[in-house]
Amino acid sequence: MTSTFDTMWAELEPIGRSADGGYHRFAWTAEDAALREWFAAEAARRGMSCVVDRAGNQWAWWGDPDADGPGVVTGSHLDSVPGGGAFDGPLGVVSAFAAVDLLREQGWTPSRPIGIAAFADEEGARFGVACTGSRLLTGALPVERALALTDADGVTLAEAVTRAGSDAASLGPDAEALRRVATFVELHVEQGRGLIHLDRPVGVASGIWPHGRWRVTLTGAANHAGTTPLDERRDPMLDLATLIQVARQAAAQHGALATVGKVEVTPNGVNAIPSQVRAWLDCRAREEAAVHAVVSELAGFTPTGESWTPPTVFDAALAARVAAAAGEPDAPAPLLDTGAGHDAGIFHAAGIPTAMLFVRNPTGISHAPAEFAERDDCLAGVRALAATLANLTSK
Ligand code: GLV
Ligand code: MN
Ligand code: MN
Repeated sequence: MTSTFDTMWAELEPIGRSADGGYHRFAWTAEDAALREWFAAEAARRGMSCVVDRAGNQWAWWGDPDADGPGVVTGSHLDSVPGGGAFDGPLGVVSAFAAVDLLREQGWTPSRPIGIAAFADEEGARFGVACTGSRLLTGALPVERALALTDADGVTLAEAVTRAGSDAASLGPDAEALRRVATFVELHVEQGRGLIHLDRPVGVASGIWPHGRWRVTLTGAANHAGTTPLDERRDPMLDLATLIQVARQAAAQHGALATVGKVEVTPNGVNAIPSQVRAWLDCRAREEAAVHAVVSELAGFTPTGESWTPPTVFDAALAARVAAAAGEPDAPAPLLDTGAGHDAGIFHAAGIPTAMLFVRNPTGISHAPAEFAERDDCLAGVRALAATLANLTSK
């Protein structure tokens, strides 16, 4: 298993990596196609069937989920945020294949099929909606809305899917694919420092904070930077500065996190007052009311919701079972919650018993090139995942 883990990691490493070490792996691009090809090849190498559901997600199956299912599914996503790290998403997919390898090395015969999934566009980096693939699959994202989403170049998701060689007309929820899943377990790099403080390589998720994204359009009047007196300007960049300050203060006041990490300036010239600024607010908190309180303080900017994930509280009995299977004989894996979003949250919301494993991240940094996990911790994660899958597929 260790050699297959290393080989898979090395194969994925160059795909979509830029010179500064950050990853740019966006949905329905050439990088996405290379990642999909990699996934299909890993499935084929193991004699697993590989199918794509109506929402564009890939599934590899050990066993037949229609004849002998529903099965236990693990996996994550292969796309990234702009300038993202190597681990967010791919660690879960690589660990899934490595866990299957380990179970086979151990001679394990699962009592039900085991599936590995790679979900499309988890980060929503290109089209704005987080967890597009799993939301489409479960029906949480209406297909008409998905098809009409546009990227920064005005390309619709429907066009992007078509250009990538898939059939946009058949995109939609997939009850059949969903019926094959009895339980979903997502392994993910931890995106914080919880496991460092607990001095443990692997943890189990208790829940995901409620979180959402809002878009704001600020309109001004384009004009010359050198000839327009300050008191005659309508500069939307000033409104953006105010919005950012208000969001920050409101977040601090309500115990939330608020981030403006994406901005589009029109026409984006150094010597021109912009005619328009579009900005995106990401807001999260442990308490749903705190998120709403922050967003309502920005009501004057008329924010438009782009995606929303309510609080996720994973099933406590399943989390305890996974913690016992994934931990040491005398110490179950610790439970911790997270402010990061995951396809696991969408599965939970769809009523599928769901759990998550986290692997220690020594920097605590994520969505950035410095995101990391030590190899030994990654391998501990694979062993924990294999033990979890064995537990969930025992007779
Ligand atoms: C996904 O990683 C998110 O939390 O936005
Ligand atoms: Mn992420
Ligand atoms: Mn992720």
